[in-house]
Amino acid sequence: MYDVEAGLLGHCVHSQIDLHATYGGVVPELASRDHIRRLPVLVRQVLAESGCSLVQIDAIAYTAGPGLAGALLVGASYAEALGMSLGVPVLPVHHLEGHLLSPLLSADPPEFPFVALLVSGGHTQLMQVTGVGEYVLLGESLDDAAGEAFDKTAKLIGLGYPGGPQLAALAERGRPGRFRLPRPMLKSGDLDFSFSGLKTAVLNVVSGPEWKPEDAADLAADFQDAVVEVLCVKALKALELVGLSRLVVAGGVGANRQLRLRLDAATRRRGWRVYYPEPELCTDNGAMIAFAGARRLAAGEVPGVACAVRVHPRWPLAALRAPGAV
Ligand code: KG4
Ligand code: ZN
Repeated sequence: MYDVEAGLLGHCVHSQIDLHATYGGVVPELASRDHIRRLPVLVRQVLAESGCSLVQIDAIAYTAGPGLAGALLVGASYAEALGMSLGVPVLPVHHLEGHLLSPLLSADPPEFPFVALLVSGGHTQLMQVTGVGEYVLLGESLDDAAGEAFDKTAKLIGLGYPGGPQLAALAERGRPGRFRLPRPMLKSGDLDFSFSGLKTAVLNVVSGPEWKPEDAADLAADFQDAVVEVLCVKALKALELVGLSRLVVAGGVGANRQLRLRLDAATRRRGWRVYYPEPELCTDNGAMIAFAGARRLAAGEVPGVACAVRVHPRWPLAALRAPGAV
């Protein structure tokens, strides 16, 4: 629940980690069925936490993509139906726009323009951001996203789901440098990324004759070091290229401690600054979607036809327009 004047009134998250852990990854059909069960309960919970009732809602925002079609359809149908019954506007929001704007919900928000490093499970992108809906893609991953690489590599090392945070925790106990993993596309001269080769390099180590499971922490540290170095070098290069000094880091991998330490140190040296969302808003949450919807509505976005349930499983962020723009 977000109020334009009072700020964030409350937010609730239901994690499906336990549901999917048994299968080692997200099972799309289980995800959407669980969404149907949880959504009404979560809405009641967030209303109670915010001290609000349904009739006090002025508008509803929901994630319209990108993502799994089934899960998106549950949210879209629920939001459109609730909006229709309350007679309030309903806004479809781009999931990555939610992440990208989430640092604006913090106590010390960045001003526009800035460069955003979006590092989620499905995307690794550098964006030049001049305002809400004004996004220019500077570079992106050509294969696996950074989060995806963390998750797949964790599996190779024998860790459970979700792998990213577990791999990061294991890496904290290891020492990088022993395995000399590659830094993919570090010197490619552009702002694109590629992480699948790094994952293969890890596979070669763990399936090699000299592999010892007790070396897992060192390997995890090496892998994390490689990803962090590439992300950091390219993010700084992006700032330099477009002549900006503010960097926003959003998406689940943005919670990574080593990434933050490295980015903070490198930007401080140059007199630049990095902005992160509040820790609980780093991974997927509804607050960032409510906020993005509220910003769009306040800036003059006109909601579409009532009760039109449309989702976009694939949706390039740079295709968005500023609110009110034709
Ligand atoms: O943004 P997000 O919550 O969901 C998507 O929109 O995908 O990002 C989830 C991704 C997962 O790949 C997860 O493994 C990764 O973020 N992640 C991390 C850490 N915490 C979450 N990766 C590295 N270090 C972390 N501490
Ligand atoms: Zn996300």
